[in-house]
Amino acid sequence: MTETSVFAVNPEVAENAWVDEAGYFRLYEQSIADPEAFWGEHGKRIHWMKPFTKVKDVSYAPDDLHIRWFQDGTTNVAYNCLDRHLATKRDDTAIIFEGDDPKDSKHISYGEAYEEVCRLANVLKAQGVRKGDRVTIYMPMVPEAAFAMLACARIGAIHSVVFGGFSPDSLANRIVDCDSNFVITADEGVRGGRKIPLKANTDKALEKCPGVDKVLVLRRTGGQIGWVEGRDLWYHEELAKVSDDCPPEEMNAEDPLFILYTSGSTGKPKGVLHTTGGYLVYASMTHQYVFDYHDGDVYWCTADVGWVTGHSYIVYGPLANGATTLVFEGVPNYPDASRFWQVVDKHKVSIFYTAPTAIRALMREGEGPVRRTSRKSLRLLGSVGEPINPEAWLWYHKVVGDERCPIVDTWWQTETGGILITPLPGATPLKPGSATRPFFGIKPVMVDADGKHLEGACEGNLCIGDSWPGQMRTVYGDHERFVQTYFSTYPNKYFTGDGARRDADGYYWITGRVDDVINVSGHRMGTAEVESALVAHAKVAEAAVVGYPHDIKGQGIYAYVTLVAGEEPSDALRKELVQWVRSEIGPIASPDLIQWAPGLPKTRSGKIMRRILRKIAENDYSNLGDTSTLADPAVVDDLIQHRQNKR
Ligand code: WT7
Repeated sequence: MTETSVFAVNPEVAENAWVDEAGYFRLYEQSIADPEAFWGEHGKRIHWMKPFTKVKDVSYAPDDLHIRWFQDGTTNVAYNCLDRHLATKRDDTAIIFEGDDPKDSKHISYGEAYEEVCRLANVLKAQGVRKGDRVTIYMPMVPEAAFAMLACARIGAIHSVVFGGFSPDSLANRIVDCDSNFVITADEGVRGGRKIPLKANTDKALEKCPGVDKVLVLRRTGGQIGWVEGRDLWYHEELAKVSDDCPPEEMNAEDPLFILYTSGSTGKPKGVLHTTGGYLVYASMTHQYVFDYHDGDVYWCTADVGWVTGHSYIVYGPLANGATTLVFEGVPNYPDASRFWQVVDKHKVSIFYTAPTAIRALMREGEGPVRRTSRKSLRLLGSVGEPINPEAWLWYHKVVGDERCPIVDTWWQTETGGILITPLPGATPLKPGSATRPFFGIKPVMVDADGKHLEGACEGNLCIGDSWPGQMRTVYGDHERFVQTYFSTYPNKYFTGDGARRDADGYYWITGRVDDVINVSGHRMGTAEVESALVAHAKVAEAAVVGYPHDIKGQGIYAYVTLVAGEEPSDALRKELVQWVRSEIGPIASPDLIQWAPGLPKTRSGKIMRRILRKIAENDYSNLGDTSTLADPAVVDDLIQHRQNKR
């Protein structure tokens, strides 16, 4: 298998798809030549209460950075996702829920979803939540998580969904950062047969959040939980008290829709802010074209609503398009490694979107668990979250898709709101491992370290030369950080933080982050966050964290730890530190390997040379580079000698 193998477009797929290859090039060129005209037209795909007359108003100039799309239009996201479909789809399925337990599933129609969202919106209003208020959602993967998001959107409250795998501390930090005073959670979540104590975590988090005065609790398991009278409210009790009539709030296109926290290379996680009109136009349009969505499809994205993929491609994009979207509570290997494919057969899923880490984990179980299912309903496969290695791509294509289904390898970020680089099923010949070509309106620009534009086939840093409607608008409460992070390294461009290669056919191959962000099982993690969790432990003097190649996770977390004087390294302490990081941040941040480091390689000015630590973690000593500027070059030899082996 070489990189140059190309999988041609299947003519049958092209015939039924929204665009073929010639159509892609025509639309793409239009979108770049005249973005105003292109987005002016496609902006009409959603319902506007008051139509926009201005399409785009963008400046990337650091002293006047602003991004506005459709700025004089008004609309409501929940109206677009629910009300708009009632005339034709009231009884059609909006959400298929598949529980962690395979016996637990149900269909929720557009009419039912509409009614519940209206009631929930009225509960929020009755409890004092107003337009512009921040509501934190800390929920398991159940339909009520989507209802909570839509109820906020309906009344103009800004939601901040926090992944249910995050610790009480991480939850508290996010609540405090956006000054949220209302939390929606559940008694417990269930994943892979295990309970997740969401309410207990919330109680613990709220010890640090005096501003929160109400907690709405969904009864999911009926397990024992603590209860604070006057603060805690049962979801089912409150919904029963209110009417199901709740007119949607008229929102400006640029009113905030949600905040979603994501890790950066430095400091605490950033509150990525997305707004209303442009976000919905972009999420729904990409959902239609990238997944070649047609009425009648059953669409399943396996992400969690705690991540942007869940926002754009479980909830907002699919529902704006009137699709049937599957919400899955469980994990790929419970009760066994066949679960994904059993769910595909059970619900006749036609479009399936997952992450490379899941594919690699299932690949390890062999073909059996896949082959014993039919998967006849599948016609399209998708991948997201990290580069997919050609071996996993080929397995996904051959074993899961029976060589029948195109794979869309979709590159994007929390910041981008929707997919930016991706194949279109009927239009793009595929190369395993490449995210291929830009979506309409997306202008990738490759630059070298000095910011010089690179032409033709090249390798460098990936920037985007112009705005698109789904782009984030600011970092909540810290616009300066927004400007600094994304627009200062390379002036007049959005810097993605990713490295990439562009081949002679103009295909993009994302090579991974070029900053101190690592990607563990498709979860984004700042090395600085893990380091600060480690040094918060009483026995740790100093820590440096880097990523290293991991067979299943893509990247694993490798931590170099220097203990305070007098503390002895031991296996017990190693376990204690792993446990510590889990409880400080969450299980996704658990270090895979911890190496005791008597010293860290530092420059004479005291800066840790991560380049060297990365090389050692990768087991690559061929090119350690110049170590002569180190304060104490001998520490490198010690680190090499005691390098931890991959598990
Ligand atoms: C980072 C963004 C977008 C939703 C999931 C992650 C990496 C994402 C791909 C892909 C190569 C990818 C990038 C990006 N990434 N998709 N198809 N090929 N890399 O969102 O947590 O904001 O992470 O994930 O490095 O910058 P996120």
